[in-house]
Amino acid sequence: MVLLREKMEEIEHTFEKKDIKIGIIGAGYVGLVTSVGLAYKGFKVLAFEKNVEKLNLLKKGISPFYEPDLQKFLINSINSGRLSFIDEVSQLIKECKHIYICVGTPIKEDQTYDMFFLDSAAREIANHLPQNEQKIIIIKSTVPPGTAKWFKKIIYRYRRNKKTNIEVASIPEFLREGNAIYDFFNPNRIIIGVDNKSIVEDLTQIYHDFPAPIIIVSTTEAELIKLASNAFLATKISFINSISDICEQLDCDIENVRNGIGLDNRIGIDFLKPGIGFGGSCLPKDLNAIISIFKEKQIDPVLFEAVKKINNDRINLIMNKIKKALWNIKGKTITIWGISFKAGTDDIRESPVLKLIPILIKEGANLILYDPKATNNFKNQYPQYSINPSIKITENIYESVVNSNIVVITNDWEEYKRVNLQKIYELMETPIIIDGRNILNHLEISEYGFEYYRIGVNYESS
Ligand code: UDX
Repeated sequence: MVLLREKMEEIEHTFEKKDIKIGIIGAGYVGLVTSVGLAYKGFKVLAFEKNVEKLNLLKKGISPFYEPDLQKFLINSINSGRLSFIDEVSQLIKECKHIYICVGTPIKEDQTYDMFFLDSAAREIANHLPQNEQKIIIIKSTVPPGTAKWFKKIIYRYRRNKKTNIEVASIPEFLREGNAIYDFFNPNRIIIGVDNKSIVEDLTQIYHDFPAPIIIVSTTEAELIKLASNAFLATKISFINSISDICEQLDCDIENVRNGIGLDNRIGIDFLKPGIGFGGSCLPKDLNAIISIFKEKQIDPVLFEAVKKINNDRINLIMNKIKKALWNIKGKTITIWGISFKAGTDDIRESPVLKLIPILIKEGANLILYDPKATNNFKNQYPQYSINPSIKITENIYESVVNSNIVVITNDWEEYKRVNLQKIYELMETPIIIDGRNILNHLEISEYGFEYYRIGVNYESS
């Protein structure tokens, strides 16, 4: 975070006003971070969001979701006059040469991407495109390979015989929720996918001063790079989760083994944290999508199917740990720390805990849920749980453990590490902790007298 602050001051300092006006269609996660990021980089940004409620919040400088530092960046960008939110997509299409497409691509029941919003964006662009002006469309949404080519084709189709001069590029976004602002300014690489090299120079004008190598590839390659990157990250996590299972059987400690594996430069320690499985809006969705694409092309997706299966099975592992620790679940009070899919975000999409809650309720447990940021999202998206007498949602970590029989940690907020363990110990009826993210210091925990179980360790001998 210190690094981030220094970096931000440097960006503000070296900021020079740039002459390019950029349009962003879709101010969701990627679109909003891209909007404020490009505004900070000195571009004039016009952002369009079709959800009126969200648009009204954005116009007032309020971020519709929690992301560290985003709120501050949003207000600064608006106040500097470099970022504005607009109601009319036609204005953006007319005024901006560069148009970023950041609309959602939710996954359908058949596990393929729903391309409806991209299709609509292509149609809007075709309808409002001024003649005799070149437009460069940049797809940032995560999409199946071949989308940029389709997008261009659709625009030409709707244009019918009207004069049209557009190019479509694919510049995938690799930012992580919880680190989005930092990641925007400090990408590992910038992938520029083009099918017509004549626009490369134009696009590098936007990206030339980012501290990262720029790789020029085709649009389809860029799209595949994004999907394959997320599939690889998912594979790394399922790999370490598998190794952690065998650690439990061999009396090994996964933390030692992980260190030993990760210190090999070819492997790397990042994304080797064992836990209750990966969630979020990207990894599970992109893994499903890559499986579907393999099947469509008649290639066996055996590797990715295994990654998915290992991830889905993590909930059974946690359930077994809870059963083993409690002996009997019915009538017990189980505290869950963690609703969002990871720390740093209020996003609960595909959060592993969403699978755990109904199983525990079915087993007859009483649940007390706590998360530093995600309780509101949870209440709004799962109103049935708010009225369930077996579930209590708290805004205070200490309140969450009163008379509790066990704490199950499902995400990795720093707050859990700073908690007053003595107080937690005293408030609980039976002080047991299952640490599904190996976030607490096991030596310290044991000193307080907790029964403490983490992942990847045979707790009967630890
Ligand atoms: C991911 C990609 O990292 C990012 O590049 C892409 O742009 C969007 O998808 P995000 O979904 O924000 O980002 O979360 P990420 O940090 O990748 O974590 C995904 C899930 O994996 C979380 O549930 C996290 O808790 C879990 N995880 C991550 C592990 O279980 N172990 C790890 O070592 C790392």
